[in-house]
Amino acid sequence: MVDTTANKLTKKEVQGNILSPLPIALVGAQVNKKPNYLVIGYICPFNFGKHIFFSLYNKRYTREGIHENMTFSVNIPSENLIKETELCGTKSGRDIDKSALFDTFYGELKTAPMIFQCPINIECEVTEILDYNPNEGIIGRVIKSYADPQCLTEGKLDWRKVHPILWVTGGDYNFYKLGERIIQKKE
Ligand SMILES: Cc1cc2nc3c(=O)[nH]c(=O)nc-3n(C[C@H](O)[C@H](O)[C@H](O)COP(=O)(O)O)c2cc1C
Repeated sequence: MVDTTANKLTKKEVQGNILSPLPIALVGAQVNKKPNYLVIGYICPFNFGKHIFFSLYNKRYTREGIHENMTFSVNIPSENLIKETELCGTKSGRDIDKSALFDTFYGELKTAPMIFQCPINIECEVTEILDYNPNEGIIGRVIKSYADPQCLTEGKLDWRKVHPILWVTGGDYNFYKLGERIIQKKE
């Protein structure tokens, strides 16, 4: 039998979000007729990947485009885009033109700009906005997902070739890289 009292005594409470690491995403929107991108760390798949959920502070410039068009994109940068990613996460589109950092392309949605240099791109249509003042929970339905052919192995997405940037929270707010595969699942 497990002694829960004793277990509790060996645990220490820690502050902040520890549902982590999280893949860094560059969320894109068309703001004042230009693509704009910001870093979103608090992002996750929802409804078995048919939807995506993320947390958006209500002062973000990108928010204006998301509300106007009700569309957005999710772009996963590789480690080699760390500089551009940091810029997108520290400077606002109100102050600098972040559209110039990347080549933009569009899929089905003509108001969800995607980043050509990111190996993974997803276009989404907003289905719900939750008010958690001063933040919003944005829920988007995935319209289409894309990957660079160099990131596929035998036609399937291979995350070791994507080299995503992982962000940890709950004390150490740094970026990490993906580790090694620990199990080879059978097909
Ligand atoms: C690692 C990291 C994670 C971030 N996560 C979020 C987030 O989840 N939600 C959010 O609103 N801002 C987040 N930000 C902050 C925005 O990316 C940043 O304020 C950006 O400059 C806003 O750009 P904009 O005003 O052009 O929209 C994050 C920044 C960094 C560096």
